Formats: sequence, structure tokens, C-alpha cells
Amino acid sequence: MRHPGGDAAFSAYESFADVYDDFTADHDYEAWIDSLERVVLAAGLDGRRQLDVACGTGKSLVPWLERGYSVEGCDLSPRMLLHASRKVGDRARLFAADMRDLPSGEPVDLVTCLDDALNYVVDRTDLGRAFACAARRLRAGGIYAFDLNSLRAFREDFATERTFVSGRWRFRWMGHGSCDASAGCTATATIDARGCHGGPVGPIRSRHVQQHHPTDWVGASLERAGFAEVHIYGQHRDGRLEEEFDELLHAKAIVVGRRT
Ligand SMILES: C[S@@+](CC[C@H](N)C(=O)[O-])C[C@H]1O[C@@H](n2cnc3c(N)ncnc32)[C@H](O)[C@@H]1O
Repeated sequence: MRHPGGDAAFSAYESFADVYDDFTADHDYEAWIDSLERVVLAAGLDGRRQLDVACGTGKSLVPWLERGYSVEGCDLSPRMLLHASRKVGDRARLFAADMRDLPSGEPVDLVTCLDDALNYVVDRTDLGRAFACAARRLRAGGIYAFDLNSLRAFREDFATERTFVSGRWRFRWMGHGSCDASAGCTATATIDARGCHGGPVGPIRSRHVQQHHPTDWVGASLERAGFAEVHIYGQHRDGRLEEEFDELLHAKAIVVGRRT
């Protein structure tokens, strides 16, 4: 069993949990889940039992609930889960778990892991463990769907600074990466949140370490974990999906595979 307190993602999200929803206020989850649902249905999803791994504050989970899925959610960060539980009440079972070491449970038809969560897994062996855990929770024929930040996102987002106000917070994103980062790189960003408009004062600082996962590693690792018919779509910043993923054109890869 890992000690979550020793993990960079655990520290990042325990600090960031109270401001996460304001930080991501402009992310259109409704539209995103709409297009992801089309993708998983096209991959042959048959059934509505779902596990949303790394569900965070519930933003990636609630739209599925509202579409009639029976959803469980888990996350490494208890504080992110606290915010999720305020949104979902008793409509979904939530539990703390590391995606690399998921407990066993009833088989589900769909496992999702959304909004860069797998980029926080910085070790390649651990990525394989996360895939194997997803495979264990899926019934044969079940669908696994997740997104990954592209090399373009690493070169642009992790090499820039920006400041913006959302809700009661002024956010400062400081990327410490490089605009010519190469495939398989690790990048770090610091996010500071300071209260404004008479809100809480802060600053709340969190440090985010992400790993770029080239799609050939991902494909091979998924195959070893028991997935077939893997398809990788490209997603633009405005949410548009294209059939073929390009590391330097798209912001995200949307990966879908079927458990054999
Ligand atoms: C960018 S947030 C996405 C949360 C949610 N899926 C959403 O779309 O809003 C990334 C999430 O991944 C979680 N996470 C990172 N590493 C994890 C791990 N090893 N196991 C489980 N959750 C993890 C973090 O705690 C955080 O809640």
C-alpha cells in the first residue's frame, strides 16, 4: 500500500481542492461529457455502470449521473472527495483510492479517468499499474476512456505564465517547463490563488508535476493490461474532436479501449 502523503499529486490536490472549481469554472463539462459519451457509445459501450477514477470534486462525474449512469467515484485526495460529496450527496458512492492500487469491486461497464489525471502518474510502470487496475474493475467487453495532455499542451501551457480572476480568487499559473519540451518529458507548474473581491485571502499554493505519455507507450501498455480496439482521438482546445490524434496539433488525446 502506498503512503499517499508522500505523493506529489496528493499534496497538490489537498492544497488545491478548495479553489479547484473556481480554477476550472470555464471548463464546459456538459459539452465535454456529451462528446465523450458519443465516443464511448461508438466504441460499443453497453451498460451504464461506471467508475470515474480521479473524480476530483465531482465535475467529471455529475454529468454522467445526470445522463442516468450509476456512478462510483474515487480519488487520491480526500479533500477533493469532500467537495464531490457535497455535489452528489447519496447519488454516488465515493471512496479514497490510488488509481495505481484500486480496491476490487463489482464489475462496471465503463471506467473513466478525466482531465489530465493520468498525467499525474509520472512513472511508466505506474501507468501500467493504473491501466491494469482499470481492467480489473471492468467486465469483459467494458470500455475504458481517458484523456492525456498532448506534447503541444506541455510546450504551451507548462512554458507560460498567466493570471486570471475566477470566483473569489485571482489565480497565477506559472509553468516551469520549456517550449521545446520533448516527448516523454516531465513538467512542473505552480498555481497561486489569492483571495479578491473581499473573499478569503490566501495565498494557496500548489505544485503540479505532470508526465507526458507518448501514445506508443500508452498503446503498448494498454495492450499488456488487457485492452484491445484502442482508438486515440485528437481534441482541440475548443473541445472539437477529430478521428486522428496529432501531438503538435491537438491539446489532448482522448483514448478509448475495450477490455478483452
Ligand atoms: C485535474 S484533476 C481532475 C479531476 C476530475 N476528474 C475533473 O475532471 O474535474 C486531477 C485529479 O487526479 C487525482 N489524482 C492524481 N493522481 C491520482 C492517483 N494516483 N490516484 C487517484 N487520483 C489521482 C487528483 O487528486 C485530482 O483530483
